[in-house]
Amino acid sequence: MLPKSADIAVIGAQWGDEGKGKIVDALAESAGTTIRFHGGHNAGHTIVTDGRIYKLSLLPSGVVKGAFSVIGSGVVVDPWYLKLEMQRLASDGITVTPERLAISSRASLILPLHAELDEVRERAQSGAVGTTKRGIGPAYEDRVARRAIRVGDLFYPGTLRERIAFAIQHHNILRSAYGLAPVTTEEILQSLEAIAEFIRPYVREADEIAEKIPAGRILFEGAQGIMLDVDQGTYPYVTSSNAVGSHASTGLGIALKERPYVLAVAKAYTTRVGEGPFPTELTDQTGQRLQETGREVGVNTGRSRRCGWIDTVQLRHAALVAGIDSIALTKLDVLDDFEAIKVCTGYTVDGDRIPGFPSSEFQQMQARPVYETLPGWRKSCAGVGSFASLPANAQAYIRRIEELVGVPVSMVSTSPDRRDIILREKEFGLREKELA
Ligand code: GDP
Ligand code: IMO
Ligand code: MG
Repeated sequence: MLPKSADIAVIGAQWGDEGKGKIVDALAESAGTTIRFHGGHNAGHTIVTDGRIYKLSLLPSGVVKGAFSVIGSGVVVDPWYLKLEMQRLASDGITVTPERLAISSRASLILPLHAELDEVRERAQSGAVGTTKRGIGPAYEDRVARRAIRVGDLFYPGTLRERIAFAIQHHNILRSAYGLAPVTTEEILQSLEAIAEFIRPYVREADEIAEKIPAGRILFEGAQGIMLDVDQGTYPYVTSSNAVGSHASTGLGIALKERPYVLAVAKAYTTRVGEGPFPTELTDQTGQRLQETGREVGVNTGRSRRCGWIDTVQLRHAALVAGIDSIALTKLDVLDDFEAIKVCTGYTVDGDRIPGFPSSEFQQMQARPVYETLPGWRKSCAGVGSFASLPANAQAYIRRIEELVGVPVSMVSTSPDRRDIILREKEFGLREKELA
């Protein structure tokens, strides 16, 4: 049971794009603060309300409802992109003031040279990951190699010059190997000095952030998903940060007294963008139907998402590594017209059943799903107000997922709209009229 004031980590249970933005936006009503704790503008989170669509990549989704928001120390920040995103939001009538947003001085910067490196590697490597080409991997590499430029460095010209000079020693060697022109300290310094003034009012030390966080619930907004987590996902076809909720405190940069409740968002089927193993992928007409009905197109890159049936082996792995307390099941409506729906209950490799989600790329590629087929409901679920009002077969589908994954489904989303969420636990602090 979720304590009324407990903090919540909303994380992706699959390969990203599960609908985290929608869930965070809905919960922002009951929270004082929303926090991004990892990743960068590789994320693409969509919020739909009153016929308006907001697409956020770097800003926490809570900004739409005006919650106090934090970009934590675990995030990689492209300051030019941040400015663009804030300008775009302002033209939609949402102004993000320094009273509403804090950026950790310890967050690392993404520079144009990181995006260039990402792009050139994706083209050159035989084992391309299918990244968003936004420089995420190279920026995190610099961070752990202790050559990153951090947000706080922007305001100390002497240090900034030294840090740039140090970083580009390494980058110019790489750039030469990839046939890219060298960069100079002066040009990077100039461009950073120009953007530093924009970002300065938002930048805060850890103690200032701690002071500014209002009393009440904190929502941690995960990016990507557990299967893209650098350690627990389908390595090396992953992103370069930890997407599990247990990273929330580290990525905020302030310790929590208690572990947040982990609300993992999962689609009623599965999607993935980019390369890498995907055991339940459907490359046939059914996959195409899911792609079209679910409008499965990447927010940032416009790529079609690969689609397949729900995979309870994958979700059991997610529950194990991320300590999922409950699932928010989204896009149930996309399955409305299917006569029969498959659920993956196990894998075989070379004809033999394997126990869980394997760590090796070899086994992940070889894994063949074992399916159970459930009858569809052939009725619209969009906007249904309670679990009990869902078609009986839709209820049975959800109950079977709960049984197979071993985790309760506490929310069901039935359309992109903010309002269309069925709550099965009143502790989330949302409108209780929708409780079953
Ligand atoms: P995120 O990255 O996890 O925030 O998810 P994205 O925004 O990238 O992708 C989810 C997409 O599904 C967005 O276009 C949402 O508007 C949409 N969406 C979210 N929940 C539902 C739902 O229950 N039904 C339908 N049809 N669409 C949904
Ligand atoms: P949200 O938060 C889906 C994928 C990329 C690629 C891999 C590595 O919207 O769910 P990167 O640019 O991070 O180095 O790419 O991770 N990827 C995502 N897929 N949703 C995302 O974010 C993603 N962010 C990264 O497609 O396969
Ligand atoms: Mg997304």
